[in-house]
Amino acid sequence: MTLANTPSLHNETARAFLRDAIHGLTGARKSLPPKWLYDHAGSALFEEITGLPEYYPTRTEISILRAHAANLAGYISEGGALVELGSGASIKTRLLLDAGPHIAAYVPIDISAAFLHATADDLHTRYPHLAVHPTVGDFANPIALPAALHDLPKVGFFPGSTIGNLDPLDAIALLVRARAWPGIETFILGADLVKDPQVLIDAYDDKAGVTARFITNILTRMNAELGADFDVDRFDYIAEWNADAAQIQMSLMAQVDHHVSLGGQDIRFANQESIAVSQSRKYTMDSLENLADAAGWAVHEVVTDPETNFAVAVLKAQSPV
Ligand SMILES: C[S@@+](CC[C@H](N)C(=O)[O-])C[C@H]1O[C@@H](n2cnc3c(N)ncnc32)[C@H](O)[C@@H]1O
Repeated sequence: MTLANTPSLHNETARAFLRDAIHGLTGARKSLPPKWLYDHAGSALFEEITGLPEYYPTRTEISILRAHAANLAGYISEGGALVELGSGASIKTRLLLDAGPHIAAYVPIDISAAFLHATADDLHTRYPHLAVHPTVGDFANPIALPAALHDLPKVGFFPGSTIGNLDPLDAIALLVRARAWPGIETFILGADLVKDPQVLIDAYDDKAGVTARFITNILTRMNAELGADFDVDRFDYIAEWNADAAQIQMSLMAQVDHHVSLGGQDIRFANQESIAVSQSRKYTMDSLENLADAAGWAVHEVVTDPETNFAVAVLKAQSPV
């Protein structure tokens, strides 16, 4: 199939996906950006992961947010706005909204457009007093916040340990951009902490194989949206702990030497060759402070669960931007 007759390339998202896929799969070490995991099916699979027995991060972060909801919601000024990056199903957000009836507006930002709008519709029903402004966007780039909220005081919210999916420099760049949002007062960041590697491997390679389906969905998505011809049965999902980088690495490994066609390119996979798809960086209190500091924020408060598996950090700008 050539680029010109690839089915859905009439839209900018598909063209960007194709550019990233060809760039990532023709490099010396094959990779795909994790943001393309999240079509509607990917978002639904991620929600399924959050309920798995091995996947402690979601329930742990929820327990922290529940225990500290009033305190955390108190960082949002009366009549202020909560701006969330990678909002997904906005389940955790509801804990802050329930504890903060004084919050006037909520801006969920996500790349998964259909899932975002369905979630926003549900929030409209649950919180009729709240102005909900769903914003489709890629948080790797500058995001234009709704103009109507320009003058409102704002608190950024980035839960889910999604910061750990970013390369270190991209994580810093994101926090630098958030510091420049008009009216930003505070940034609440959820970060998973370094722990026993086996606990981490189990969390990212569950027995039911849901994480494997979530990661493999990126191949299915390239077939559906980019006209590729991946045979998903020729790839195995692998989760590994990289102690030096303090991160779980998620990849798809070819089980046979074969070729795939993508956007007019012939891509060869050697037997046992991997595509790096996602990573999940784990933090210590020191590395969390260093991250904040590098982006011009200071850690003002950190709350954790009793076992210190997960941290919710409250960041304040070191100096006005
Ligand atoms: C790990 S999930 C976390 C979801 C939710 N915040 C939670 O804590 O359960 C990551 C979320 O970020 C979104 N996402 C991933 N990459 C993104 C990007 N580059 N720009 C915007 N949203 C992105 C995904 O669609 C997904 O909803």
